Amino acid sequence: MQSNRAPSRSGITEPSQVLLTNVTTNGASDASSSSEDDLEPNFNFNDIPPELITETRKFLKEHGNIAFLEKYLPTAASIDDIIRLILQLGFVPKNLPRPHSVNIMEYIKILNHAMMKVKSLRNRKDDVCTVDDALNLISKSNKILVITGAGISTSLGIPDFRSSRGFYSMVKHLGLSDPQEVFDLELFHVDPSLFYSIAHMILPPEQMFSPMHSFIKVLQDKGKLLRNYTQNIDNLESYAGIKKENLVQCHGSFATASCVTCGVQVDGEEIFEQIRSKTIPVCPDCTKRKDAILKKNDDYYFAESYGVFKPDITFFGEALPSNFHDHIREDILECDLLICAGTSLKVAPVSDIVDKVPEKIPQILINKDPIDHCHFDVSLLGYCDDVASYIANKLGESWSLPHKDFSTITGENGENLEIELVDVVLREFQVINKANTEEEEPTEPGILTIENTPIGDDSIPPIETKENTPAV
Ligand code: OAD
Repeated sequence: MQSNRAPSRSGITEPSQVLLTNVTTNGASDASSSSEDDLEPNFNFNDIPPELITETRKFLKEHGNIAFLEKYLPTAASIDDIIRLILQLGFVPKNLPRPHSVNIMEYIKILNHAMMKVKSLRNRKDDVCTVDDALNLISKSNKILVITGAGISTSLGIPDFRSSRGFYSMVKHLGLSDPQEVFDLELFHVDPSLFYSIAHMILPPEQMFSPMHSFIKVLQDKGKLLRNYTQNIDNLESYAGIKKENLVQCHGSFATASCVTCGVQVDGEEIFEQIRSKTIPVCPDCTKRKDAILKKNDDYYFAESYGVFKPDITFFGEALPSNFHDHIREDILECDLLICAGTSLKVAPVSDIVDKVPEKIPQILINKDPIDHCHFDVSLLGYCDDVASYIANKLGESWSLPHKDFSTITGENGENLEIELVDVVLREFQVINKANTEEEEPTEPGILTIENTPIGDDSIPPIETKENTPAV
């Protein structure tokens, strides 16, 4: 069965320059950035079949820029020809002047950008295309690198970030130009009350974990988990029993909090009550010091954040925890399978991992929405708890998830869960839970405007692969 999804706008844009939007298929996407509207009406990317995009991209990757341009652009190419080719590569050019400008160089620049993006995409492996291939890989691999995101905790009531009902949409009322600013370090220093007015919404529940967390625990118990790189700050992996040495909390967590002035660290739970009551938690020592100074000189200026505790979450502008850097370089070379689950892969440097893993290493996605800006060999779509339960059930008794909901999800003999081919070209399969009668949450685009925004200045050290060769 071939999917007939509306083209989406899940971005693969550069941090600094937003020129393109990926439109190949669907995905958590960038609703607020312009794209379709920038095109003249005679361009309709709905008409471009995914197969053509795949074929065009493949040709570029296999034959290089010159052969590609010779084949796909007429000798005296017009602006329209260039725009059409950009669309054929699976992108909608953004922020185009209307009516289309006569400066062809602007369009060549965008085409070049699209070509570079395509060249950095990995080639899907020819021998990993089906659900059985994915199941075989999971059962045979011994060094599985698992990247997780907010989607693995949503079944516990924690919102993800970019879905229509996600956290960034819940903080719209703050009127920030970009909702991600709630995690902006500078802003925290200027006004910590902003963060503490909404932090309660993402406070983790205690002692809870999802079946997807349990699936990672099973990988660990079977000695197959190389490491779990989680972007989640809820620290639920620890309740699921993922060992510290097998876990990298890439964006920190609520497990601890530190005073932004003296650096003293406390157990995160010590400030939970204040977070719940939207009060700013302060460090007693710094408060004493501040009071003493103010007693002598009541004009003395203190920054708003003086002596304030901040959960040890990695804010934008902060470096990632050191254990990310301690392991990532080796892990991407050592892993024999990459599984991404419950993440839109829109935040670097974690999103970069998929491109840095050597191309021969198979990649599987477990996610509610497909991800277009990466080339997974197999995408198992659906609620990750259902997908994890499906996999566990198929792989046999010893894979049963140590979770109270496992048998409810699967049904007595796994009869609740079915899997359907969605798109043969993109190798997407949908896990359907027949017992789940609840109406599905709409998966319309999220609200992010800037994608691949780096957290801190960190980047994964480059690894030379064929796919990383820069475009000319
Ligand atoms: P996003 O909200 O960007 O993406 C969550 C992904 O999970 C989406 O693709 C959803 O389709 C999918 N999803 C949601 N519920 C699901 C479910 N039950 N089963 C399967 N998939 C589901 O969240 P992240 O990718 O984690 O930074 O976001 C990365 C970072 O962006 C976060 O760590 C956060 C944010 O800025 C900080 O907290 C500092």
